[in-house]
Amino acid sequence: MSTPRELPDILSKDFAADPYSAYRVLRERAPLMWHEPMNSYIVSRHEDVSRVFRDPVFTTANYDWQLEPVHGRTILQLSGREHAVRRALVAPAFRGAELQATFLPVIEDNSRRLIDRFRDTGSVELVGDYSTHFPINVIVDMLGLDQGDHARFQRWYTSIIAFLGNLSQDPQVAEAGMRTRAEFAEYMLPIIRERREHLGDDLLSTLCRAEIDGTSMSDEDIKAFCSLLLAAGGETTDKAISALFANLLQHPEQLAAVRADRSLIPAAFAETLRHTPPVHMIMRQPAEDVELGGGVVPAGSTVTALIGAANRDPERYTDPDRFDVLRADLKTTTAFSAAADHLAFALGRHFCVGALLAKTEVEVGANQLLDAMPGLRLADGFTPVEQGVFTRGPAELPLVFTPRRTMSGAA
Ligand code: HEM
Repeated sequence: MSTPRELPDILSKDFAADPYSAYRVLRERAPLMWHEPMNSYIVSRHEDVSRVFRDPVFTTANYDWQLEPVHGRTILQLSGREHAVRRALVAPAFRGAELQATFLPVIEDNSRRLIDRFRDTGSVELVGDYSTHFPINVIVDMLGLDQGDHARFQRWYTSIIAFLGNLSQDPQVAEAGMRTRAEFAEYMLPIIRERREHLGDDLLSTLCRAEIDGTSMSDEDIKAFCSLLLAAGGETTDKAISALFANLLQHPEQLAAVRADRSLIPAAFAETLRHTPPVHMIMRQPAEDVELGGGVVPAGSTVTALIGAANRDPERYTDPDRFDVLRADLKTTTAFSAAADHLAFALGRHFCVGALLAKTEVEVGANQLLDAMPGLRLADGFTPVEQGVFTRGPAELPLVFTPRRTMSGAA
């Protein structure tokens, strides 16, 4: 199978500028496409992408080369019982009750501290001043690490995500990823050894203590998992918050509805995950030859599942390019669980462990931001532009608002 010339090229500038019209062409004309430069089959329809996530014949062996070089071995690569046991070790910390009890104050404090820096100014660049810091600060606090090292964490997770999305195999990106692995190990391993001696109530201590059926996590396992948490929980939630505000600000009537009724925030977040997901593609490797998208994908090949395309499949969603917080064909009640119908958190065994944490962060963040920023709007003449192909979100979001102090001073 070859890639016909007239079909969109995922590595092209046109695609990066507007993947959504390319997704439409792929869904309609090439639901299974071979892409030579990526050495990968590509699927784009909701039915096929969701099958790739649910059917265990599609293994996650791709992470052996896509992530292990930078993280070490993580649960993303595991399957069957080994995956179930490892996942059960880490999942309780991310469930509703534990989250609310232990980590809600951490989430609220971190959001408030960032907003304090701009709440009296009347303007903010939301991506650089808030979104890129908030989720990473939360994870650093949850793990009981040093906030003073924030700049390092941010550099590390940016280089890990670049490695993961290095579709064109840029050697500099690969090299930076390898450096990150060495630096992170040098930083983290002594902290883990020390923490084992002085266990506390932070997530790192929970990981040190965790044991199921005689299985516990080695220092190397914990280091790899922390590295995964920084990347998986940082870049994604950061883009989700920025995209939520970009979407609402471009639909002022929907922003007004959410401002007036905050119980709509989860629906607005779910619709953001569908319409503009932070992760646009995820790969898999079939264990045997398998029929998919009207063709056969051979065992051991790579399949790229286009989440961004599947989430706008007109077979699944009415008027899919429209952002609509009140859309009837997207269920908010299941949107943050493995029963979700949008595919932003994937589905099946590897369904995002941090989905509820992301939801809590977005709810807290959006509520606090709306409270702090009456009269919120995009800076004059500014139109949001998305950036990124593997992960994607607004490049920047300059906003203006009426500070509360000014309002009460005028009153
Ligand atoms: C809006 C925010 C988020 C999005 C869109 C997102 C997306 C995803 C996706 C698509 C996967 C599946 C990967 C695959 O199947 O190959 C995943 C898995 C995962 N996510 Fe998230 N994620 C988000 C937030 C978080 C947060 C906050 C954390 C934790 C701090 C987290 C931790 C993880 C972990 C550990 C896995 C691997 C689960 C496994 O292999 O069983 N994610 N995420």
